[in-house]
Amino acid sequence: MIDVPRSRLLDALAERFRAEFGGVPRRFFAPGRINLVGAHLDYNGGDVLPMAVDRGIYAAARLRSDGRIRLVSLDQEAEVEVDAAAVGARTRPEWGWAGYPLGVWHGFQQRTGLGAGLEMVVAGDLPMASGLSSSAAIEVVTAIALDALHDTRLERQQLALLAHRAETGFVGLRCGIMDQFASALGRPGHVLWLHCAGPRWEHVPFDPKACEVLVMDTRKTRRLAKTGFNERVAQCATAHELLRMHVRDLPHLALYTLDDLALAREAMDEVLFRRARHVVTEMERIRAGTAALRHGDYKELGRQLDASHRSTADDYEVSCAELDAITEAARGHEAVYGARLTGAGFGGCAIALVRPGSSSSVGREVAERFAARFGVVPGFDLLRVGAGPGEIAG
Ligand code: GLA
Repeated sequence: MIDVPRSRLLDALAERFRAEFGGVPRRFFAPGRINLVGAHLDYNGGDVLPMAVDRGIYAAARLRSDGRIRLVSLDQEAEVEVDAAAVGARTRPEWGWAGYPLGVWHGFQQRTGLGAGLEMVVAGDLPMASGLSSSAAIEVVTAIALDALHDTRLERQQLALLAHRAETGFVGLRCGIMDQFASALGRPGHVLWLHCAGPRWEHVPFDPKACEVLVMDTRKTRRLAKTGFNERVAQCATAHELLRMHVRDLPHLALYTLDDLALAREAMDEVLFRRARHVVTEMERIRAGTAALRHGDYKELGRQLDASHRSTADDYEVSCAELDAITEAARGHEAVYGARLTGAGFGGCAIALVRPGSSSSVGREVAERFAARFGVVPGFDLLRVGAGPGEIAG
């Protein structure tokens, strides 16, 4: 059981549930995440350093005995009602946002044989739906809810895998495991060091008195995110294949070195080479960044964020003018340790690590510079390490 303070949202959730279905549901929460360093490493068998934040997706849920699944969101207009027997291995366009919970329902049913219907109302308080992984949070909250409602007591890791399979198999984004693991394994006061190839993980303390995380929303829509993302995944797979053929046979792209890349230079075109170089050098940055965090050296951690942003922009090409400008503006403030885009990139949000107490002044300065160039006022939000996922007490 977890305690959450957000009573207004919880009240709204319970009220809608009563109106739609009647009675009193059980309520659950799963957090969104930001990733400190380790950009696009999860699907390359590398390491990542995400933080489960104090915002995410809330769900009010109950099983149904009539084989129907009814899903309602306070944030989306479309309500979805389907016959459980009609849920196959893939989502359908008309299901829209409900593809995420339906994918988890399907995976849970396949794994456990438990196929009762479900009625669920969800609502989110992630500041902006752009790069903080509301999709992983909705998947994980569904997995947590089904596990609790059926009393199956699966391990968090197994719930994370169910959630991940919903995203890759059911919805069709070829993402790595970071977002679902970050949400499912979140723990108060800690970020997650996750070795994605294992998977294996460790919780590393994050000191809120030394550093805060300011999320900066460029308000630039992430248009090509799905195509661009899947294209990067494919390019990395090709680069890996070439390295295996021409240099040595390692199981993941993230395990190669710059020397290996130099040996394969002739075999790769310029684009593949730069994609692989991002992956290999980002592994160095995550090592340095994690070591810095363990020593409480937030300045050094910030330097790794800056370098990570440069590499994702130049070599991986998932940044855009807005993300470059907003992170650069943040770096110009003396209270900022470092800044980078977060999530997949292609628009959406960036994060800045800031000295506690300085977020308003950073926000003012960044907003002014950004608005002068793009004519758009960015959004800001201060995020904290959250309590992790679970059933909400009371
Ligand atoms: C998205 C994906 C993650 C990860 C990041 C980039 O958030 O869902 O699996 O690949 O992009 O680090």
